[in-house]
Amino acid sequence: MDYNPFIFGKIVEGPQFADRVDEKEELIRALSSGENVILYSPRRFGKSSLAAVVSNELKEKGIPVGNIDMEYISTKRALAERVVSTTHEAFHPKRKDFMDKLKDLKDHLPSIKVKPFEDLPMSIEFDAPSVDEQKALEKAVQLPEIYGRKRKMVLVIDEFPFVVQNIGGNILYLLRGIMQTQKNVSYLFLGSSRSMMRDIFDTKTSPFYKFGKKMYLDVIPHDDFAQFIKEKFRDPTISDESVELILDATGCHPYYTQQLCHEIWDSLKEKETVTKELFDEAMDRVLTREKAVYLEILDSLPGTQMRMLKSIAEGWENLYSKDSLMVLNMSSGTAQKAVKALIKKDLVSKKNGDLELEDPFFEIFVKRNVL
Ligand SMILES: Nc1ncnc2c1ncn2[C@@H]1O[C@H](COP(=O)(O)OP(=O)(O)OP(=O)(O)O)[C@@H](O)[C@H]1O
Ligand SMILES: [Mg+2]
Repeated sequence: MDYNPFIFGKIVEGPQFADRVDEKEELIRALSSGENVILYSPRRFGKSSLAAVVSNELKEKGIPVGNIDMEYISTKRALAERVVSTTHEAFHPKRKDFMDKLKDLKDHLPSIKVKPFEDLPMSIEFDAPSVDEQKALEKAVQLPEIYGRKRKMVLVIDEFPFVVQNIGGNILYLLRGIMQTQKNVSYLFLGSSRSMMRDIFDTKTSPFYKFGKKMYLDVIPHDDFAQFIKEKFRDPTISDESVELILDATGCHPYYTQQLCHEIWDSLKEKETVTKELFDEAMDRVLTREKAVYLEILDSLPGTQMRMLKSIAEGWENLYSKDSLMVLNMSSGTAQKAVKALIKKDLVSKKNGDLELEDPFFEIFVKRNVL
């Protein structure tokens, strides 16, 4: 049998990437016309993958694109090095060119001794310990604008909220101060923690308040995802009913759909067709594997939040009605506080006015196990 065609937990591109046609178009249009964009979605909806696909298409159009992941950048100096390397590489992606054009960099950063990594020639570090971190970072963040005079560039910054968590201090003010005046760079900001993204981009007192156009990523449309699954399950095959079972369980969530399909595929024998029984077994295996994580989350919740989580998982119509509050055994104020806390923890989100659990498998687990 062929290799498992369902991938989850890493960036997907090419044949592993379904749909997102409109979102792709909108992002490409905004970024190539100089706008900054903030891309929001619940966890694991495919932000990083969409950014990768968009980056490739922009590069094909001749636009220099750099991608910085903030998650493991813990100092100003490391951030400065990353910005410089990424920008230089966006304009000079070929190794020889990258090395030959280092002079351009030194014109802008004369006081900072730049040396390319020996084993990783596409990266750069500053000569320690003479470098003043703060100055180096300021200079580094100006570089995309200076290079951008030749050709406007796009910088994708993934896991942006980590910049506050890892570096802290005045970092947002420093970045905003430089970035807001730039005309030749479009920034695309992403982040997996929605509450932190909201703190940075939607809070009036934050330096990044309203820094760009907001875009929201939804789940993948049902029919497109069904088509995607059927194409991948050509041999072994899958019936329309089984596709429905899968999409019904996952709510078309990109990550969990791929995870469940991956699990089902692994259990199939050659020429076998996906049945309800195989689907149930795969679902049970996934829930068993996630059990420890789910229990840990439940253990951390106070009783009010746990009860609220359960009623949201069950899809109660009106959480704040007199009857609901009586069953929940809480006042309306307590109920609202519990909902707010669950949203802040990224466990629950609002979709078309209704609350739902972000992780569809956790929802099934809560329904089955929380009494
Ligand atoms: N367009 C897509 N088509 C099919 N599967 C997708 C698509 N986008 C995402 N996925 C699935 O979702 C998983 C997570 O994608 P990705 O890492 O891009 O999401 P993310 O929103 O950046 O996640 P996080 O919130 O953790 O940063 C992928 O590994 C893949 O299984
Ligand atoms: Mg991501």
